[in-house]
Amino acid sequence: MTEETVLHHKARFERPAEYPERFPVPDRFVGWENDYPDYAPPYYVSPAVLLNDASRNPGGWADPEDLTLSYGSPEESFAGRLRHDDKGRALNPSGRTGIAGRGLLGKWGPNYAADPVITCIDPGENSVKLLAVQRKDNGQWAIPGGMVDKGEEISRTLTRELLEETGVALDMSRGRLIYQGYVDDPRNTDHAWMETTAKHLHLDLETARRLDLKAGSDARAVRWFALTPENICKLYASHSSLVKAALVGLARGAQAGITESERECVERLLQSL
Ligand code: BGC
Repeated sequence: MTEETVLHHKARFERPAEYPERFPVPDRFVGWENDYPDYAPPYYVSPAVLLNDASRNPGGWADPEDLTLSYGSPEESFAGRLRHDDKGRALNPSGRTGIAGRGLLGKWGPNYAADPVITCIDPGENSVKLLAVQRKDNGQWAIPGGMVDKGEEISRTLTRELLEETGVALDMSRGRLIYQGYVDDPRNTDHAWMETTAKHLHLDLETARRLDLKAGSDARAVRWFALTPENICKLYASHSSLVKAALVGLARGAQAGITESERECVERLLQSL
């Protein structure tokens, strides 16, 4: 782990209901470089992952449980070169999580997602808004992101997920890259974890108002979600960090067409976080 790395938290202290309890990983034992002789994490792979084994089920989205049948364990990811354990399994680049196996994640190693961050500013309400979906699985508000399909270009995933979840068609290759790397996600394990690519597109209010919002199959609702300090910290997974990165870019004037008073509105919001 590099010095700038913040210790993962959700991946040690949170878990989906079906996971066994995580083996305790105190801060000093997070990094694989530190010996933890008593470390005995339970092994867990979700029945949903086994059912979706692509080697048995042609429509499946998961690797086979037997690593020798899968397409090899990756040597690197957006997080850099990966370590491997004595069974050849790639190890979580942010360190121990207290669970071995893949849990709910289909791929051994990195599981890639893509997050389209779309914002607009309503000067009348003095508020910055995020195009957000309310997830069906846990009711939380979230960026309309999703998993990268096998062999899919990430810009395509961003555009596709945005359309599927919100009904909005925008070319996300125009978006500004705000993050690419590891995500501290409650589903992560020692052998499978989330990584994402997030791109930001800021729209003027007219364009934003003209869009026809339609919640897709994974969403309960879709709307322009007011970014207040309380709302930002309640966002799903690590989406609050992605939104903050987008706001920092806006405040620096990284997106075209934003007026000085709009920029000040973003700056005030950032100061209150
Ligand atoms: C979500 C993404 C999220 C990623 C990591 C995916 O399931 O669709 O929006 O960034 O998980 O938490």
